[in-house]
Amino acid sequence: MKILIIGGGNMGLTYAKSLLNAHIVTEDNLMILEKSEEKAEKIKKLEVGTVFGEPGSYIKEADLIILAVKPQDSDILFNKVKGYIDHQQVILSIMAGTPIKKITAASGSKKIIRAMPNLPAQVGSGMTVYTSSEDVTRIELVMVQNILNSTGKTIYVDNEKLIDASTAISGSGPAYVFFYIKSLIDTAQDLGFNRSEAELLSYNTFKGTIDLFNKHNFSCEEWISKVASRGGTTEAALNSYNQNDIQNKLSQAYTAAFNRARELSE
Ligand SMILES: NC(=O)c1ccc[n+]([C@@H]2O[C@H](COP(=O)([O-])OP(=O)(O)OC[C@H]3O[C@@H](n4cnc5c(N)ncnc54)[C@H](OP(=O)(O)O)[C@@H]3O)[C@@H](O)[C@H]2O)c1
Repeated sequence: MKILIIGGGNMGLTYAKSLLNAHIVTEDNLMILEKSEEKAEKIKKLEVGTVFGEPGSYIKEADLIILAVKPQDSDILFNKVKGYIDHQQVILSIMAGTPIKKITAASGSKKIIRAMPNLPAQVGSGMTVYTSSEDVTRIELVMVQNILNSTGKTIYVDNEKLIDASTAISGSGPAYVFFYIKSLIDTAQDLGFNRSEAELLSYNTFKGTIDLFNKHNFSCEEWISKVASRGGTTEAALNSYNQNDIQNKLSQAYTAAFNRARELSE
């Protein structure tokens, strides 16, 4: 199997490394199209595949094309590559807010899989939600599922709208988590810890909480009630959350991400 990744940035390189580590493809059968000369030179040194700077007839050799450029660069990209794409080639797009309909019209292929991964894919702990067009066969879908599984956990959805929903939750989610961790780090420093102590306290609290959550079958509410005793310190913080309507404000922020994903899709 030959795979072409278009866009050698954060996500494109994450896929290149995962594909090689999982032995889904060999270096000889992995191609990367990266328009930035500087990045292309750096990628060559990583020995993750053959690197190209311009589209060419090699595109037709790919059994799978992974689109990993920013959505705003996609129009220029499609104009450049359309003539080289065969309508039978399978395309896996991870571009946010770019619907299957648009990719089909712009690429000429009807075999489109649209996925929304997230950054922890870099360490094999990603969360990807994906869907496919009707023309993708069962075998092609399994092939792509294996690729996505090499970067973490996956969920298949029939309804494409849920890809935009997942963009707002798991796609953008790591930034929300880092935002929250940063608020703990900043406050820990305000309360007297030095920077590295504050980071250890905050990151390890997150890691330990997720480890605990994974070990047992309790809901978030049940865990909260185990930490917060009546009249205690945790309850004081939770009361402050409630008085400041934090749940509602967070929900508004995630909905803003969803609305932006829908806007881009349209
Ligand atoms: N990062 C995330 O956490 C995340 C999560 C989920 C989904 N995504 C999706 O993944 C996609 C890639 O994101 P990213 O963070 O990897 O972006 P990125 O780091 O900017 O990588 C995109 C790369 O594509 C290159 N490129 C642009 N136009 C090209 C063209 N015509 N031909 C070849 N290469 C081209 C860019 O070069 P230049 O730098 O020269 O423009 C850049 O190196 C986006 O569509 C995004 O929505 C990202």
